[in-house]
Amino acid sequence: MIRDQAYELRKLMKKKRDDQRLAKEAAHLRGLISERPDARQPRLTRVIAVTSGKGGVGKSTISANLSLHFASKGLETILLDADLGLANLDVILGIRPTGTLFEVIHGNRELNEIIQHGPMGLKFISGASGITDLANLGEKERDHLLSEISGLQYEGEIMVIDTGAGLSHNVLGFLMIAQITIVVVTEEPASVADGYGMIKALRKSRYPGEICVVMNKVNSIQSGKNLFDKLSMTADRFLGTGLKLVGIIPESPLIRESTQKMTPFFIAHPDSKVTQALRSVGEVVLGHSEYLACAEKEGFSRRMYSFFFRV
Ligand SMILES: Nc1ncnc2c1ncn2[C@@H]1O[C@H](COP(=O)(O)OP(=O)(O)OP(=O)(O)O)[C@@H](O)[C@H]1O
Ligand SMILES: [Mg+2]
Repeated sequence: MIRDQAYELRKLMKKKRDDQRLAKEAAHLRGLISERPDARQPRLTRVIAVTSGKGGVGKSTISANLSLHFASKGLETILLDADLGLANLDVILGIRPTGTLFEVIHGNRELNEIIQHGPMGLKFISGASGITDLANLGEKERDHLLSEISGLQYEGEIMVIDTGAGLSHNVLGFLMIAQITIVVVTEEPASVADGYGMIKALRKSRYPGEICVVMNKVNSIQSGKNLFDKLSMTADRFLGTGLKLVGIIPESPLIRESTQKMTPFFIAHPDSKVTQALRSVGEVVLGHSEYLACAEKEGFSRRMYSFFFRV
């Protein structure tokens, strides 16, 4: 009788231990499942746009080399030349375009037919030239372009958009799909004033992402930093908007020379100071994950559509 009771007690205790172990295993498994990205739901592309108020400040140079930095890290990267006025990223990358956005806009090619492969596995979309305002395109062409661009939202892990300079609908429309917009500013007074104008336009258009600044072609890191501080204080005071400095790139003959040789400096001079400065821009931008994470929540086509159809 006593033996039977002891036996039953041991059985009960073993069952309790088994239950506890099973509960622990189930909790661990649940943790693993919730950490694993849902394979059925493709990740949305995170978008970083590069723009400026004034032209010739280094947007295309920075876009091309920044994309190469991302691609070199193994991120599936797409570089979109969205300068519809005077596209030239193909020249900076040394790629001969086999198709351009111009043909896509006019319905002659599909966007995925004109995606080319650049260095380090970079995917590249060549821009159009001579399209002054998307708003002036016929409804059919504009609709077609927007729907083709919407198709890019599952195309890669990260997309860098190089825009034209200045405040046009084309430029603002493309910026609307980016979680982070980098405004490139140099030490020229006109570049600072126009950069401020661009930031103001973004705020007026209720741009939902984060506005970052790269100071480019600076004489010294300190002078670039001082100028950024003035710009940031002005934006804070008059626009009520914070700006983030994500990098300072010095004026360098290496960059000019690389542009002339049609080889990005990231490839031609991988150990140079300017490449280090560029890598640091890429890392800081990737570190702003709270903004880039917005890509997980909403696709970018909706924002671009609502911007253009509010015109
Ligand atoms: N940090 C730098 N040091 C020296 N030269 C630079 C630097 N950054 C860019 N450049 C040079 O400035 C020129 C203009 O650069 P880029 O074409 O990238 O400017 P952009 O802003 O894209 O011009 P646009 O408004 O015409 O599209 C190029 O010759 C490029 O080599
Ligand atoms: Mg350019």
